[in-house]
Amino acid sequence: MKLLIAGGAGYVGSALIPKLLDRGYKVDVVDLFWFGNRLPRQVGVLNKDIFQLTEEDLQPYDQAIFLAGLSNDPMAEYSPSKNFVFNAAAPSYLAYIAKRAKVKRYIYASSCSVYGYTENELYDETRPVSSSYPYGISKLQGEQAALQMVDDNFSVIALRKGTISGYSPRMRLDLIINTMFKNAMRERTITINNPSIWRPLLGMQDAVTAYIRAIEANQKISGVFNVASGNFTVGEVGDLVKSAIEEKLGTPIHLVIKHIQDFRNYKVSIEKAKNVLSFHPAHDVKTIVGDLITNMDKFKDWDNPLYSNIATFKTIDSDLEIQAMAKAL
Ligand SMILES: NC(=O)c1ccc[n+]([C@@H]2O[C@H](COP(=O)([O-])OP(=O)(O)OC[C@H]3O[C@@H](n4cnc5c(N)ncnc54)[C@H](O)[C@@H]3O)[C@@H](O)[C@H]2O)c1
Repeated sequence: MKLLIAGGAGYVGSALIPKLLDRGYKVDVVDLFWFGNRLPRQVGVLNKDIFQLTEEDLQPYDQAIFLAGLSNDPMAEYSPSKNFVFNAAAPSYLAYIAKRAKVKRYIYASSCSVYGYTENELYDETRPVSSSYPYGISKLQGEQAALQMVDDNFSVIALRKGTISGYSPRMRLDLIINTMFKNAMRERTITINNPSIWRPLLGMQDAVTAYIRAIEANQKISGVFNVASGNFTVGEVGDLVKSAIEEKLGTPIHLVIKHIQDFRNYKVSIEKAKNVLSFHPAHDVKTIVGDLITNMDKFKDWDNPLYSNIATFKTIDSDLEIQAMAKAL
């Protein structure tokens, strides 16, 4: 089976693709390489923007997977207009040409961010979504555009993922557990901005499993699936990261608790993914921290801007503006 992965050189793709190659899949990637390229050599590369792809480009593939776009709130807030182009228009266009090219399945990287601020109840996929900020709105737009194209020959699976953490060859240190880990290792301190808000968290290896289950699901399956390793308050995550580091490395870690208002608060049910996709998470905060400790030597240059999406994106964005101005002259 041949797969095209848009945004495959990112944090998720760089961990997922080696596992797909192990399972015998042929994988090509289309990516702008904002954060470099750590992909295995066997991966074919289409070095272009999603918008430059044509229906003919999609014809060789059995499935297309969208992992691209602006992948967090700070990037989306920094450039809301680009956010809507990259996160809503790009996945819609890719799904459209994939369907026309007779690609059989489209898998979309959605996010639990679509739920916005909820009232401490467990949300399943039937509950209303209510995000009022650019990232959450755009992730929902991408999801809805693809899902309305579903028919007997075109399956769409949207994975609403919790915040991922853990090691990937393309590392990010701007995600909850990874950020706490970095600060604990560097400053011996973890700062909790709001201990009471809820977040669904997803270990990287569980995220990889979710994509494999989606790729290998029966062709008749389409729909939206919440995917998480578990729901935690941020205060509990801090406690668990602290105790995992202290237990494994013997280094005492100090906690600083603040009470800053947050505009996201949600916990999700993953029963549908368990029952329909056979997705059973195997990771928790302790194993995610263990994974980070094992691989720490590969990302100990903590301040590398490539590990922070917003730091890198600000540079890319100013380059894009300069190119646009040069063209206009
Ligand atoms: N990381 C998480 O915690 C998380 C949680 C929920 C959902 N998601 C979603 O999962 C997907 C993958 O997340 P990630 O953390 O791997 O992101 P990432 O930022 O590490 O990678 C995104 C990749 O997409 C590429 N890209 C962006 N726009 C492109 C375009 N128009 N054409 C070609 N390539 C393009 C970038 O160069 C980059 O390599 C994203 O869609 C994100 O919104 C991520």
